[in-house]
Amino acid sequence: MTEFIPPAKPIIGDEERAAVDRVLRSGMVAQGPEVAAFEEEFARELVEGRDCVAVNSGTSGLHLGLLAAGIGEGDEVIVPAFTFAATGNSVRLAGATPVFADIELDTYTLDPAHVESLITGRTKAIMPVHLYGHPARMDELAAIAEKHSLMLFEDAAQAHGAKWRGRAVGTFGAFGMFSLYPTKNMTSGEGGMVSVDSEDMRRRMRLLRNQGMETQYQNELIGFNNRMTDIHAAIGRVQLTKVAAWTKQRQENAAVLDAGLKHVKTPVVLEGAVHVYHQYTVRLPEDLVSKRSEILSRLKDEFGVGTGVYYPVPTNELPSFGVEADLPATREATRSVFSLPVHPSLSPEDLQRIIHAVNTVLEEASA
Ligand SMILES: Cc1ncc(COP(=O)(O)O)c(C=O)c1O
Repeated sequence: MTEFIPPAKPIIGDEERAAVDRVLRSGMVAQGPEVAAFEEEFARELVEGRDCVAVNSGTSGLHLGLLAAGIGEGDEVIVPAFTFAATGNSVRLAGATPVFADIELDTYTLDPAHVESLITGRTKAIMPVHLYGHPARMDELAAIAEKHSLMLFEDAAQAHGAKWRGRAVGTFGAFGMFSLYPTKNMTSGEGGMVSVDSEDMRRRMRLLRNQGMETQYQNELIGFNNRMTDIHAAIGRVQLTKVAAWTKQRQENAAVLDAGLKHVKTPVVLEGAVHVYHQYTVRLPEDLVSKRSEILSRLKDEFGVGTGVYYPVPTNELPSFGVEADLPATREATRSVFSLPVHPSLSPEDLQRIIHAVNTVLEEASA
């Protein structure tokens, strides 16, 4: 049997192990100097020097970002439904109501025209997701936000290093959240990094992650314990030195897949976008949509190619939300997408195996 090609593969090496060992030997493992250094280095490398606040997960980052921006009960935040549930969850956790907007099918990111049609007197903010590593149309969304006096936030969980018209994602909104979960383009084990656009947002985020305290036992507001540990930050700092090379490899792998794959709709990269390929997501033609699970099983069983379906159910239709929304492009995407391995550990032979497998299985399925 050929070796299985997993859909994602975190790369953890000797340097990460040594960094963790250094922290463990120091005897100080909770939030401390490693976290502070990670925040500074992340700011410099990925968000053009914007202030950053590290937290214990991407979900906490969104939650605290929304609270820090003053989002709460009675407010509406427009988000996509074609995303991981954490996007909508964070809005609900802040006490507000997520309003689900449709995506553009070519890039799977928010459709600005549909967003604008959903604005009501209660709308406070728009929170696009740079899904799969492709930036949302940030200038159009920023213009809509400005016209209607709304805030703009970014769920950049999957988009470390992505750019829109020369500008890094995470520098457009009042905050931008990057997840550091193991399958993301870089990891700290678990974690989230939030870039913020003002000293005020930075201070509030720092208070909220630490029980509302800046000075010990002088709690200024009701906060959480959402701190990142120095152990996690030490891993993240090493990964940060490698993420640019890994991204380049992802982009090169994507170009090979683009050139070789037939019968599927390969990812679109809009002019002015830098796509960082957290996922390489393709769409089946209409006649094969009903055979998706069978096709993915064959790719795995006969060719050892791992795949994933991100996301099979729109957030609004999850039992946890159960909200009606008319989102035709979202529905179409949930039925027809699947993601192929694109991670930097793939060899040229792996890429050829993936291409051969997909082309063979789809040719047979459409015969
Ligand atoms: C789009 C999106 N938003 C939010 C999150 C939440 O991040 P985390 O898993 O680090 O809490 C994720 C990651 O899983 C994600 O993909």
